Amino acid sequence: MNYPIEKIRADFPILAEKIRNKPLVYLDNAATCQKPQAVIDSIVKCYSHDYANIHRGVHTLSVRSTDQFEAARDKVKNFINAASDKEIIFVRGATEAINLVAQTYGKANIKAGDEILITAMEHHSNIVPWQLLCQQTGAILKVAPINLQGELIYDEFEKLLSDKTKLVSVTHMSNALGTINPVKKIIAAAHAKNIPVLLDGAQAIPHMVVDVQDLDCDFYAFSGHKLYAPSGIGVLYGKQALLEAMPPYQGGGDMIRKVTFAETEYNTLPYKFEAGTPAIADVIGLGAAIDYLNAIGMDTIAAYEHELLTYATEQALQIDGLRIIGEAANKGAILSFTLNHIHPHDIGTMLDSLGIAIRAGHHCAMPVMDFYHVPATARASFAMYNTKAEVDVLIKGIRDLIEMFG
Ligand SMILES: Cc1ncc(COP(=O)(O)O)c(C=O)c1O
Repeated sequence: MNYPIEKIRADFPILAEKIRNKPLVYLDNAATCQKPQAVIDSIVKCYSHDYANIHRGVHTLSVRSTDQFEAARDKVKNFINAASDKEIIFVRGATEAINLVAQTYGKANIKAGDEILITAMEHHSNIVPWQLLCQQTGAILKVAPINLQGELIYDEFEKLLSDKTKLVSVTHMSNALGTINPVKKIIAAAHAKNIPVLLDGAQAIPHMVVDVQDLDCDFYAFSGHKLYAPSGIGVLYGKQALLEAMPPYQGGGDMIRKVTFAETEYNTLPYKFEAGTPAIADVIGLGAAIDYLNAIGMDTIAAYEHELLTYATEQALQIDGLRIIGEAANKGAILSFTLNHIHPHDIGTMLDSLGIAIRAGHHCAMPVMDFYHVPATARASFAMYNTKAEVDVLIKGIRDLIEMFG
């Protein structure tokens, strides 16, 4: 395919780094991905020329910062095709977005005996906030099972949707397995029973077109740092009617319209959920990342990464003793694996000596590790700037490692 890979790689300065005297092969993108020069420049420009606190100021710098901050919100809105800027809440990341929904929507609408339905492939960020809510309210957390391919067993999921289910919260794409869930089907089934659905989009957002109106999800959570933007910034999308009805999350500046010691009148959306000074330059950086991605096209990126994953999977399957964890028919660019008797941490350390960055561990998905009876996996996760040549370096590294360990 005609993909401008050389240009893209040149846009990411860190890719020119040498690690242990070897060219960096960065395959830890599911944990966080690298930043293009356009994003770095946008932050430098903000602090060098435009920086001041937003929203309340009348002076020029405050107006500039506010305009750029709100322009970034509009870019996010268009990127995920939300109906309004009011539906885009800036938070610290996917984790905070999910906690926000649990502690506001959840506390207001979920009571003892009610059920919250998740899946067995969730990241801890989409488990623990619900456990906390269950402890606070007496609600019950239900978990839809997965099969050995790492796919949701959809029939079992549907059976768990009941009159008691008050919220469904599922990952759009699993970080440990790469599985892309049939989220449209999940949402339609939940909505048929008037149950709202939150999608954890932390992994999906950098790999595919996300259209929240087409999906019809009620909430969508994602982090900037996995979308080529700075860390410390993320987004909660929520349907306006739901957000309007929800109580605020944190109290403080910016989320108020009027404060007296007797009572406080809250600000309108989206500010009601944005207490305190936000990560101004980082939000502007998120806007720059979205501009960068739009110029290439998410469809184009998705097609390229699909080719890369197919190639990596074919190569990996030829290695004796390598077991791929997560073989869903519909998968994003993640290759989790184990190697016979070699511990994933040793795999990670050995590959690092070759300049290859992968992740080894439970990937904040301990229940997934338990399901496969492994303590950890090694995970190579791909991004828009990775190449087949890098896959070859990885595969050769793994083969060398097997030889060394005997
Ligand atoms: C599927 C999934 N959900 C949620 C998160 C949490 O994201 P963050 O740590 O950026 O809040 C991650 C991060 O790895 C993830 O992979």
